[in-house]
Amino acid sequence: QRPVLRLLSCPGTVAEDLRRDEQPSGSVETGFEDKIPKKRFSEMQNERREQAQRTVLIHCPEKISEKKFLKYLSQHGPINNHFFYESFSLYAVVEFCQKESVRSLQNETHAPSKGMEVAIPFRSRFFNLKLKNQTSERSCVQMSNQLPPSSKKLFEVLRDAESVDDQLNTLLKEFQLTEENTKLRYLTCSLIEDIAAAYFPDCVVRPFGSSVNTFGKLGCDLDMFLDLSETRNLSTNKTSGNFLMEFQVKNVPSERIATQKILSVIGECLDNFSPGCVGVQKILNARCPLVRFSHQASGFQCDLTTNNRIALTSSELLYIYGALDSRVRALVFTVRYWARAHSLTSSIPGAWITNFSLTMMVIFFLQTRSPPILPTLDSLQTLADAEDKCIIEGNNCTFVRDLNRIKPSENTETLELLLKEFFEYFGNFAFNKNSINIRQGREQNKPDSSPLYIQNPFETSLNISKNVSQSQLQKFVDLAQESTWILQQEDLGGPSMSGNQPWGLVALLLPSGANRKSLGKKKSRKPANEKVKVLLESIKSNRTENFTNTNGK
Ligand code: CTP
Ligand code: MG
Repeated sequence: QRPVLRLLSCPGTVAEDLRRDEQPSGSVETGFEDKIPKKRFSEMQNERREQAQRTVLIHCPEKISEKKFLKYLSQHGPINNHFFYESFSLYAVVEFCQKESVRSLQNETHAPSKGMEVAIPFRSRFFNLKLKNQTSERSCVQMSNQLPPSSKKLFEVLRDAESVDDQLNTLLKEFQLTEENTKLRYLTCSLIEDIAAAYFPDCVVRPFGSSVNTFGKLGCDLDMFLDLSETRNLSTNKTSGNFLMEFQVKNVPSERIATQKILSVIGECLDNFSPGCVGVQKILNARCPLVRFSHQASGFQCDLTTNNRIALTSSELLYIYGALDSRVRALVFTVRYWARAHSLTSSIPGAWITNFSLTMMVIFFLQTRSPPILPTLDSLQTLADAEDKCIIEGNNCTFVRDLNRIKPSENTETLELLLKEFFEYFGNFAFNKNSINIRQGREQNKPDSSPLYIQNPFETSLNISKNVSQSQLQKFVDLAQESTWILQQEDLGGPSMSGNQPWGLVALLLPSGANRKSLGKKKSRKPANEKVKVLLESIKSNRTENFTNTNGK
């Protein structure tokens, strides 16, 4: 029996909270786990983009035979790669070896007509597979997980780790984007590019931010950038032939207005024609205008901007920092998770510290170690060659792009030490007078009175944490000091002494002021250590009470 593939044109419900406790285990290949990516950022982006263009997204019926499914699709050409995942229903991502296969599949599908509803005929790469007769076979497809682990599961794996270093690496492994999730992110951008290309045929929709800078965690938003530079270049390139094409262009008073107009029409297109894009909001008066929407099938919350090359460049810089030393990402993921666990960060914009600011703080801290773990941006600039030269809107964005030209650090400090020192460093940082600056890797006088000042590495007159209030900064400082204290006590403990008690990172993640004693189900009998442990716990809870009281909470 032949399945019928239809062009998908009917959105269903919004994917709001995808977090679930248990996930079926799938073959999760991690992107950066064992190997440090040595590819240039642009090379990696181009490869992934080309891969995404050969890929289709298929909404599948609940029961499906994987074998028949693949056999049917391979009539259109060889399949390079595929995986299934769940996002309220079952989806498949299928990557063909050749782009022509996508076209061949599209040619064989038809748009659905459903009673009174009329489909808007848009040739998408997002299909809906309807089987004429439901298969009676049980679905036994392996599911690829797209969600982060629950805190319960995380605490269990952290409790079973061998050391604090092992805990930090475990947290990274559990939360980092998987190969499949990365593919899904590039595919989503590619599907949006199909829509935007209706207006701007040479446009490119590129992911940036945590989806690509190696610091993204499962479930993070998908930042995309509508790159029109190809179109701009086409219209400004002078041809040497006799035939001159004169473009009749429409002029607007400023770059900002151009950005707003472009995003406005793309927002309309997404809302009206793009299958699976729901909750489209045009936020055009923001400092950086954007269109926000939910891509239902992938479950990604998307932010689309344009004229934002600097943000793409800062993603490239972070990609380099993330790749230079394996401790960087483990530390950043831990600090971000710690901040989230204590509500220092939030998914709602406001006076909170952002993940981006926290990443900058970790990078800065690693630049101040002796010997430094990360080079300053200025030194990356001195390593740059002619090809790396880059000026965007008058800002110097030059730095070395080839990772192999940067010397690895000789610093051998453990993650445990670095985490403790991070909290100590920022627990005592003179935020009232100094700013953080990864260009020079040392503290500078603050140019204004913002409570937290982190210099934007490329637009150097901007503060990336301008939004942070004094009280949020104070909360960060208090928690950093408390965490230093907890880790100092932990010097006496460790997994072998703790039995089922929270130790190391788990102790840091428990709510401040809560009884940090009772995570394990039962206390193990370790008589020699127990007295020390009980003593420590009582000191801890006294300290926590004092801490809570002095803060008036
Ligand atoms: N960005 C910036 N200046 C800011 C905020 C953001 O340059 N004040 C750029 C950074 O390149 C950042 C990207 O915009 O990586 C996306 O911003 P955001 O989504 O806030 O941060 P992410 O790094 O993507 O982290 P998250 O996982 O929280 O989304
Ligand atoms: Mg983001």
